[in-house]
Amino acid sequence: MEAVLEQPITGDAPVHLEGLGKEYGHFTALKALDLTVAQGTSLGFLGPNGAGKSTTIKIMTNLIRPSRGRASLFGIDVRREPTRALARIGAVIETPEFYGYLSPLETLAYAGRLRGMSSKDLHSRSETVLKEVKLTDWADHRIQEFSKGMKQRLAIAQSLLNEPDLLILDEPTSGLDPRGMAEVRDVIKSLKDQGRTIFMSSHLLGEVQEVCDDVARAGTLPGRRHIGDPGHVPSPRDGAGPRGPGGFARSRGGQGQRRLHRRPPDLRRRRGTGARP
Ligand SMILES: Nc1ncnc2c1ncn2[C@@H]1O[C@H](COP(=O)(O)OP(=O)(O)OP(=O)(O)O)[C@@H](O)[C@H]1O
Ligand SMILES: [Mg+2]
Repeated sequence: MEAVLEQPITGDAPVHLEGLGKEYGHFTALKALDLTVAQGTSLGFLGPNGAGKSTTIKIMTNLIRPSRGRASLFGIDVRREPTRALARIGAVIETPEFYGYLSPLETLAYAGRLRGMSSKDLHSRSETVLKEVKLTDWADHRIQEFSKGMKQRLAIAQSLLNEPDLLILDEPTSGLDPRGMAEVRDVIKSLKDQGRTIFMSSHLLGEVQEVCDDVARAGTLPGRRHIGDPGHVPSPRDGAGPRGPGGFARSRGGQGQRRLHRRPPDLRRRRGTGARP
């Protein structure tokens, strides 16, 4: 990439992971991940299947314990003070499920009440978040009528209910058709353009180039370079060419890097909205 940004490691960064590791039994899913995401950054956490992306995100959101290391959000240790650490985040992890007989408004009301939101707040926030994910016209429809992409956008809406300062998305376009992917990416890009901090995992380099400012890699592919190598300029070929979805992976004994890379401007792409009402 064109520029290497050595992000200052501040104590209250939205995401700060230190030597994070996880074993499932004897299997090492995550070795030692060091990563910091600065305020206002949208970071693509890139890695193939099984690289440990969901594991990392589950540790960050206190769904599972790390075997070693530490995760903090806004300077608050996730294990020690989970409620306070998670108060400022919204997350969509793996594939969310909804009750098909409920509408988006009913679903958001249910989620909001669980979070202790007042009816008044819920009403105004529901309108806002449904607008943000372009589902306003579907607010009263049953979710069973929805495409996967629409459900994914609803999941993002739900994660925005509490006006999070950090949005964590685990492969938000996984399993969607090209149109659904485009719609979800457009939503994420508009959230990014509002200056939100986003941590998004993906196995698609092209997607990360399109949506994110910076990139860090998860996992290892022996014998290949990883995207964090100085001087490596990702190109669309990295994601689709004969080298496969890599050109980005080689372990140097650890996983992931603090060194973040600004996406080159010439890789920015524009398209029509393609979004449904
Ligand atoms: N609960 C578990 N028990 C045992 N092994 C697990 C468990 N969860 C994940 N793993 C293994 O840990 C590794 C990392 O899994 P993880 O789900 O974090 O990868 P990922 O990068 O999210 O992959 P994908 O792109 O397929 O979602 C995989 O090899 C997976 O099989
Ligand atoms: Mg996963």
